[in-house]
Amino acid sequence: MAPQVATQLEHRREPLVVQPEQQVAGRQLAQAEAERVAQLRRHRTHLDGVGRGVQAGDVVGRQAPLLAHPDLAAPAAAEPGGGVELGLGLDHRAHDRRAGHTGVDEIPAPESGGRPAVVGAGLAGEPVQRDDVGGAGHRVADRFEPAALGLEPPAQLQLVGSVHARVAHSDPVGGEDDVVDAAGRPGRRRFAPDGARQHGRLHRPGHDRPPVRIGQNEHVVGFGPGPGIGRRDHPHGVGVADRLRTRHGVVSCRRRRDETLTWNIVPRLGLRVADPPSILHLPDDAFLLRGDGFAYALAVTPGGDLRHLHWGGPIEPADVGVLLTDDAREFGSNTWSSPRAHTEELVAHGGRRLDESALKVEFADGVRALDLAAESTAVSGDELTVRLADRHYPFAAELHYRVRGGALERWTTLVNDGDAPIVLDRAYSAGWALPWQPRWVATWLAGAYAAETQLTRRELGPGRLVLESRRGIPGHAAQPWLALDAGDEARASDEAGAVWSVALAWSGSWRLTAELAADGRLHVTAGVNDFDLRHPLPPGTSWTTPVTVGVFAAAGHDELTDRWHAYERTHVVPRPDAVRPVLYNSWEATFFDVRPESQLELARRAAALGAELFVVDDGWFAGREDESAGVGDWTPDRSAFPDGLKPLADEVQALGMRFGVWVEPEAVSPDSDLFRAHPDWIYQWPTRPRTLARQTHLLALSRPDVRAHLVQALDALLSSAPIDALKWDLNRPLTEASSGLEGAGSVWVEHVEGFYEVLDRVRERHPGVWIESCASGGGRADLGVLSRAEWVWPSDNTDALERLAIQHGYAYAHSPHTMMAWVTDSPTYLTKREIPLRFRFHSAMTGLLGVGGNLAEWSDADLAAAAEYVAQYKRIRATVQFGTLRRLSGAPDDVTALSYLAPDGAQVAVFAFAPSVRRLRRTVLLRLRGLDPAAVYADAATGTRYSGALLHHHGLRVALTGDYASELVVLDRI
Ligand code: DGJ
Repeated sequence: MAPQVATQLEHRREPLVVQPEQQVAGRQLAQAEAERVAQLRRHRTHLDGVGRGVQAGDVVGRQAPLLAHPDLAAPAAAEPGGGVELGLGLDHRAHDRRAGHTGVDEIPAPESGGRPAVVGAGLAGEPVQRDDVGGAGHRVADRFEPAALGLEPPAQLQLVGSVHARVAHSDPVGGEDDVVDAAGRPGRRRFAPDGARQHGRLHRPGHDRPPVRIGQNEHVVGFGPGPGIGRRDHPHGVGVADRLRTRHGVVSCRRRRDETLTWNIVPRLGLRVADPPSILHLPDDAFLLRGDGFAYALAVTPGGDLRHLHWGGPIEPADVGVLLTDDAREFGSNTWSSPRAHTEELVAHGGRRLDESALKVEFADGVRALDLAAESTAVSGDELTVRLADRHYPFAAELHYRVRGGALERWTTLVNDGDAPIVLDRAYSAGWALPWQPRWVATWLAGAYAAETQLTRRELGPGRLVLESRRGIPGHAAQPWLALDAGDEARASDEAGAVWSVALAWSGSWRLTAELAADGRLHVTAGVNDFDLRHPLPPGTSWTTPVTVGVFAAAGHDELTDRWHAYERTHVVPRPDAVRPVLYNSWEATFFDVRPESQLELARRAAALGAELFVVDDGWFAGREDESAGVGDWTPDRSAFPDGLKPLADEVQALGMRFGVWVEPEAVSPDSDLFRAHPDWIYQWPTRPRTLARQTHLLALSRPDVRAHLVQALDALLSSAPIDALKWDLNRPLTEASSGLEGAGSVWVEHVEGFYEVLDRVRERHPGVWIESCASGGGRADLGVLSRAEWVWPSDNTDALERLAIQHGYAYAHSPHTMMAWVTDSPTYLTKREIPLRFRFHSAMTGLLGVGGNLAEWSDADLAAAAEYVAQYKRIRATVQFGTLRRLSGAPDDVTALSYLAPDGAQVAVFAFAPSVRRLRRTVLLRLRGLDPAAVYADAATGTRYSGALLHHHGLRVALTGDYASELVVLDRI
């Protein structure tokens, strides 16, 4: 089963310019190539100058003088986290007459409809016989070796680009290829004699395959230094082919016999500084995993134990050898757990393991101890799998590690290879060992309904810190996220100090523990909560845990936040690059009184403000007068919507907005047609009363028939009207964890898997629909749901002051572009606090701006001001949604200030808030971080100019006077 962080989106990049094919006779071309090489050689000094000191992942290509070369492709747009596009242009044609050639691999690229395309442009360093041209390519490639760019040895250059090719493929007799399919399985493929034979010609350009455009920048077609054109059997080619296979389902062929290939390729290639390989298999069965700013090391001992060696800042392969001998000298006492938890990759209950374990099972004969030994290891791209098998029982735990930029994802697959059942009593995703240090301070996001994600910091004492949810949803009491550092007094702060952090991508009950031993050894476990869990593993089956994610930052909480935001934006959320729309939601305006006329009136006013998505919240469906009825019947209320939702949706769309509705698919009111038809479809014990919460029961999504019903019901709803968005809510916990079927204890897992399945299937059927995740506010805002929802509703508390604290904490774990925030009426219904419109807008503009007030009652002046705030937000939203967040002050009772720096550094949005003037402080001086000290920034409102150095070292003065003062200063780099 796939890990739960399911959406692994690759960034699509703009294609480089592809030039028309050039038909140049061999001699002319050889001459042209020679000239080109000479020209490129002249540019080498420039290239060296630009490249010196370049690090993997740096973007320097756009500044490279090489791009000025007349033959070069247009510079590619810089992509988030993108590479160096040095824009080497290369026209190539060659005629290869040898068996086992290195020049071409065939790829049925999915985007070319499965037709074979060609990659490889004769860049191989090893001799290739060519009868007209050739060699130019590899000479060029040789020149751009990492050393020439001042890169450290593990860094490599990738040639990336677009390839436009015609191929004449002549084979006189047909034959067989060795092929490798998308899953890496070797095989043979027969191919028939081709047209060349039929026409009696070996080389027939007229028989060319149609031009196949296979390339976008993301296609790696070879890399330097020197050899490697995607050949799997070549030392350098492995990475190339792997990458292609991973991304595009490549079938690569190696010809076994003589043949003639003529190809005429016009590639536009770029050079990109590639990340060094993220996983190294070292001597002594040690593995070094390296991502952005971190390293992780482990090793299989000769006895089959899987030792943890390192998690923290980057280390070198040679260091791992030292670590292998390191812990051997450690003192031990027979009163201690053995082995100590921090020395093992998986603490499996059994023997003298007395520390917090990550795995506990019960075998059919009643034995509840494990005895695991490493059986095999496998590296595939950026993923490592270590299989541990029980020494006696046919049971295995496969530990998975995947490097994702600055994050390491880990999960475990538990396998019952026998013919007797096994029960999983505890199956955490992983344990994380941290290095020793004298003091540990934990940061977590605690809270409650309407007061979620409150930043909480406490020093750890010996013992166990347990954060958890037992509610079947992640809940409001804490986020499944925890950070650990050495404490403020010991260097750790926003700007400095090492921080380790762990999160769990799971939308159900979860548990994180941080266990600190008296000698300062700390380890953290993360996984599905084992509370009430008895998850059966029938014979011949396996179960995969959710993903736990570890992020390390060497330079404080600023860097940690950047890394979490980057991870979430790049590897988790759907549509990561799409700007989120300005939302209007009618919940607080009309509550359950949903009528088309009043919704339409709100829609007109929302559109006039500049809203782009209009969502009708709870109350639109049959029987829903109040909380007591209707949930489960997802058909519009007949009296209000006799023709369904379509007329309203059409009118909303005619106003220029998208249209969305609220649903609570997992719940059911006892007073609903669904419950009357299927009273057995809920979680319940046969002999116990059923627990109502917000007057609903929870549908047993552990049951396949219930899942199927929900998919069908939501499909029908989404097909009944042009619905662009769903707000997916759940307002109750899971109680009575039994669906009346076998294996009641597994409901804690199966409900969440059912929720994911329904959500995934609905998204699959309606890929245009956007999802907001909600559970009585922020009760379900974890990485698991965020891999399936564009954003979350972080809290029902829309009081702008309370929201500052909630949002402050939320952004430690999540990117602001997943954080919806509405401007509602003053006073808000929950706190009755009066807050001016300006403060309310500024507070909401620090995330995804929404409006949720009753616009029908807003004054003209407020509506006009609101329209201006929305327009201003649109001018800065790319900066807020995709920029770098810096917390400048986080004291909701006093001054809260934060800044966002646009990804290209061109805009800075600074927000400052104070509920009242205290101690006569009428202004604050905010020192901004992350700006270019040499750049000049102009205040967009006043025109005042500041140097980046001044803003950083001295600060930006912001006035905050009166009650509920707020400021938004927009600075543009000039
Ligand atoms: C709880 C949500 O958090 C609110 O925003 C609203 O959608 C209500 N449910 C509707 O019942």
